[in-house]
Amino acid sequence: MQFFDVVVIGAGAAGMMCALEAGKRGRSVLILDHARAPGEKIRISGGGRCNFTNIHASPKNFLSQNPYFCISALSRYTQRNFIALVERHGIGYHEKTLGQLFCDGSARQIIDMLVWEMRENGVELRLSTVVEDVGKTAGGFELALSGGRVGCSSLVVACGGKSIPKMGATGFGYELAAQFGLPVVETRPALVPLTFDANTLEKLAPLSGIAVDADVGCGKTSFSEAMLFTHRGISGPSILQISSYWREGDEIAISMLPGTDVAGLLREAKRSNGRQAVQTVLAAHLPKKLAQAIAERTGLDGNLADFNDAQLKTVDAAVNAWRIKPAGSEGYRTAEVTLGGVDTNALDQKTMQVKSVPGLFFIGEVVDVTGWLGGYNFQWAWSSGWAAGQAA
Ligand code: FDA
Repeated sequence: MQFFDVVVIGAGAAGMMCALEAGKRGRSVLILDHARAPGEKIRISGGGRCNFTNIHASPKNFLSQNPYFCISALSRYTQRNFIALVERHGIGYHEKTLGQLFCDGSARQIIDMLVWEMRENGVELRLSTVVEDVGKTAGGFELALSGGRVGCSSLVVACGGKSIPKMGATGFGYELAAQFGLPVVETRPALVPLTFDANTLEKLAPLSGIAVDADVGCGKTSFSEAMLFTHRGISGPSILQISSYWREGDEIAISMLPGTDVAGLLREAKRSNGRQAVQTVLAAHLPKKLAQAIAERTGLDGNLADFNDAQLKTVDAAVNAWRIKPAGSEGYRTAEVTLGGVDTNALDQKTMQVKSVPGLFFIGEVVDVTGWLGGYNFQWAWSSGWAAGQAA
């Protein structure tokens, strides 16, 4: 049986960062994945350009039952550390919006960088390898793999979450957590498009494909980014963001012209030319089809002069205080991440080591730390992977 100091299960973002860091410390490291290629989610991320971090990443951009847990890892290996690594590899990047950093070229460059760093630091990468069984031994762990048995003193679980099963997501990390008696915070799809019931969909069907900049809120949380009407409901960055906070039965509040006094705008337009249609005035600020739909929905499908101020006010409410109850979400099929995961109370915040099982580590998305949209999830993968890489 081959023996390694460290075995990492999952050659994704977190696993590769951990493996290369442990390799730098002179540890013998095996990283394995059941997929045929490493970093498949990195490859498809950010529309193929990988939004690899966010300049503004801080603990407040993360959801967890313990919001303080991520502070240590995020401050030990920051976005600046990862940017420096990217720069050392000569990878061009740019800020798209809101501090989000993307590769100028392709997400492949990030994978190649991590694979190169692993190779340089002596890490062995085994692909198309299935973990059949994991057992605890006196000095560490023993794994039955599709290609034979291996032993290790440190075992790092970096299997990611349940999102996009087509990309190799399995939920295996949660099974391992259960095997070692660790609590798992209930998981649910996050950063996911929201869906409407058939009735609402029928009414909104003509809007499919239309995007607007919107303020979208749920409870006390809100995001100002683009929103997109789809043939199943609503999507776009602001909706993906709010989906992490939304629960079945909750209403979301949408403002499609935030900061604009729509009633005032209509009154002004009425004074200057009462023969304009409501939708014509709205269409100067919103996509035409959406302006038409709002006028129809409020029953003000006609000339401004035909309506009094109270009626015009209802348009304001329809544009800036639209409240809607999504029926559900598109689920793990399209969710970018999994909310919940291995309970952080079970882990040491500095090293990601399981408090009750020395030598066992959980990192990345499998842990109950979930970032906002915008490069935060990769930053968590890098930071938690780095932290475990110093200790495994
Ligand atoms: P990750 O999922 O990356 O890796 C887990 C690895 O474990 C995979 O290689 C998998 O094959 C392997 N594995 C699973 N089960 C196994 C088993 N039983 N045996 C062996 N191996 C196993 N985030 C961001 O910050 N910026 C972005 O631009 C994007 N874009 C984006 C787009 C899309 C379409 C998705 C789905 C997600 C994103 N994300 C993102 C989120 C980001 O991809 C995610 O948070 C990280 O990949 C998580 O890194 P991990 O290493 O934890 O898991």
